[in-house]
Amino acid sequence: MTTAQPGILLPVPNLARYLSFSLGDMSRLVECLQALREIADGENTLAGFGLSLVSALGATIPGLKSFPPISAPGLSIDNAPEAAWIWLRGADRGEILHRSRRITRAMTPAFQLDETWDAFKYGEGRDLSGYEDGTENPTGDAAISAAIVGAQQPALAGSSFVATQRWCHNFERFESMPEDDQDNAVGRRQSDNEELDDAPESAHVKRTAQESFTPEAFVLRRSMPWAEGNAGGLMFVAFGASFDAFEAQLRRMVGAEDGIVDALFNFTQPVSGAYFWCPALKDGQLDLAPLGL
Ligand code: HEM
Repeated sequence: MTTAQPGILLPVPNLARYLSFSLGDMSRLVECLQALREIADGENTLAGFGLSLVSALGATIPGLKSFPPISAPGLSIDNAPEAAWIWLRGADRGEILHRSRRITRAMTPAFQLDETWDAFKYGEGRDLSGYEDGTENPTGDAAISAAIVGAQQPALAGSSFVATQRWCHNFERFESMPEDDQDNAVGRRQSDNEELDDAPESAHVKRTAQESFTPEAFVLRRSMPWAEGNAGGLMFVAFGASFDAFEAQLRRMVGAEDGIVDALFNFTQPVSGAYFWCPALKDGQLDLAPLGL
C-alpha cells in the first residue's frame, strides 16, 4: 500500500530537529539509503531528497528543482545543501539527539551532514514574534490535495514537495515597533489572532492570502521556531503537491508583482532556502522507485 509520509499531515510536534546533507561518497549510496529506509518511518522521521542527489543518480523527479534565487531590498540568501533533508519529530530532546546520531551514521559516507537545527513548539503553536502560526492551513481532504501528489501523476502519487527556509528574527527591531505596526505587519491581532480587515497591502496575510491567487495557492505549512543562544527565528516548512503555490506566495512577498514588499521583512529575513522531494511510503518504507532504486 502506498501512503504519504504521515508526519506531513500531523500537527507539529513539541520538539524537532532538521538535518541537511550534501553528497558524499556516491559509491556507498545504495547501502546508505537502504540503512535510512530502516529508520525513516515517515511519521517521526521524515525524509526528503534534493536535486543534487536526484541528478547524481541520473533520475528525474518532474517538478523538483533548485531553490529559486530571491531578491528583495537588502537581502542575500544562501541556498542550503540540497542532497537530503531529514525532519525528526519528537517529544524528548535526548531521544531526538540519539536518533539523529543513528541517522547520520546510517547516511554516512554517501551523505555528509552539513547543518543541524533544533526546533520547538512555542505556546500553542506560535512564531517567536508571538503570533499564532498555521491558522489558515488547509485541513482534512484539502490538506491532502494541497500537500500530496495525487493519482493523476501515478509515478509520484503519495509523494510531496517541501520548501524550507530558515528565517532569522531581529527581536530588538520587532520589539521597538509599536503594537499596531506589529499587527499591521502580520495582518492579524496578536492578542486574539483576529484578521485585520483594514490591514495594509504589505501585511503578510494579505500578501499570502491563499484564495487570492489564480489558481488558488494552498500549501500545508509545518513551520517551527528555532533558537540558538539568544538568536532565533522560524524554520519555515511548506509541503505542496508542487512548488507552484509556494513560489506564487514568495513572489508576492518580495514585491515581484506590484513592488510591495511583505512587512515581515521589517523584522525578519530568510538566511537559507532549499527544495526537497519527499517520497511516498510503500508498505511502510520510503518508496525510492522514482529514483530508480
Ligand atoms: C519568518 C517568516 C514567517 C512568519 C513569522 C510567518 C507568520 C505567519 C503568520 C503569523 C500567519 C497568520 C496565521 C496563519 O494563517 O498561519 C501566516 C500566514 C501565512 N503565511 Fe506566513 N510566515 C512567514 C513566512 C512565510 C513564507 C515564506 C510563506 C510562503 C512563501 C508564508 C505563507 C503563509 C501563508 C500561505 C499564510 C496563510 C495566508 C492565508 O491564506 O490567510 N509565510 N504566516
